[in-house]
Amino acid sequence: MQTRTLCKDGPTLTTVGFGAWAIGGPWKFGWGPVDDGESTDAIRAALDRGVNWIDTAAVYGFGHSEKIVGEAIKGRRDEVFVATKCGLLKGEDGSSVRTLRPESIRKEVDASLERLGVEVIDLYQCHWPDPDTPVEETWGAMADLVKAGKVRYIGVSNFDVALLERIVPIHPVASLQPPYSMVRRDIEADLLPFCREHGIGIVVYSPMQSGLLSGKFDPERLAPDDWRRGAQWFQPQNLERNLAIVERLRPIADRNGKTVGQLAIAWVLREPAITSAIVGARRPEQVQENVVAADWQLVPEDRAEIEAILGV
Ligand SMILES: NC(=O)c1ccc[n+]([C@@H]2O[C@H](COP(=O)([O-])OP(=O)(O)OC[C@H]3O[C@@H](n4cnc5c(N)ncnc54)[C@H](OP(=O)(O)O)[C@@H]3O)[C@@H](O)[C@H]2O)c1
Repeated sequence: MQTRTLCKDGPTLTTVGFGAWAIGGPWKFGWGPVDDGESTDAIRAALDRGVNWIDTAAVYGFGHSEKIVGEAIKGRRDEVFVATKCGLLKGEDGSSVRTLRPESIRKEVDASLERLGVEVIDLYQCHWPDPDTPVEETWGAMADLVKAGKVRYIGVSNFDVALLERIVPIHPVASLQPPYSMVRRDIEADLLPFCREHGIGIVVYSPMQSGLLSGKFDPERLAPDDWRRGAQWFQPQNLERNLAIVERLRPIADRNGKTVGQLAIAWVLREPAITSAIVGARRPEQVQENVVAADWQLVPEDRAEIEAILGV
């Protein structure tokens, strides 16, 4: 499977990583019921196919996803680069509350290490900015975790350029984790060039726009408590527009003997500054399909036709 280097002198990651949000089970932003055995099988299927890294977060099922990841990688620790995130705590209404206060991060990291069953977290990321804590204090605390040997690299998610500029001088930023897909391209304007210039790896999330671009999305199949029912992307007008795009993309996928989901993943990887696409899956069959995209390099004619469809 194709690999790319995360950051200057950083680790080598496969261009598809396993995204462990959906396997977190039911919570306010859960994806409906999950079968933990199937989730474990999905992770192991990914490792069997050569995927060498997993992205999870403490907030996914409030620890559940991390526990399942820990279970799945038992005995295989040396095959996998484990990334997790801090900064979202359980709120009173079962939702999440942002905090990147240093003392909170110090508590969170120990809990994540325990749930994952590892001695060190390979990549520890701030999940969302916390407007109530100076980011310099947050980043200083994250850097201390590297010095303490609890984490190897530190990164951020959902940060803008202004925040990145403030933390870059304090400690190297290994990675940014932003959203990126055919229908969500705002990082191209400033984040992508900034990261390229500063040698910051980019691991993009939701490359299939949380399943919308899989080519098989059916809103009728969503569980009553699937977060997507309430999300903007999945409301009728957006849904209709994006599913129409999927149908226009389908002939390109078909003539390559691939699925639209694979096309969506390969498309984000056409940009060399992107280290890897974090692809969510709940079942081994989904993993088997998705990993194929890691080795698919879109030819210029297909890329041009996709741009025309996307209206760029
Ligand atoms: N940092 C952040 O704020 C943030 C935010 C979002 C995501 N992430 C990370 O990025 C990862 C990926 O994002 P994502 O899960 O939102 O979106 P995604 O990778 O675009 O889509 C994943 C979803 O698509 C469906 N799917 C996967 N493979 C499929 C296949 N072969 N055929 C049909 N459907 C398939 C599955 O849901 P169904 O089968 O239920 O449709 C799966 O859960 C997450 O797991 C998480 O690690 C991070």
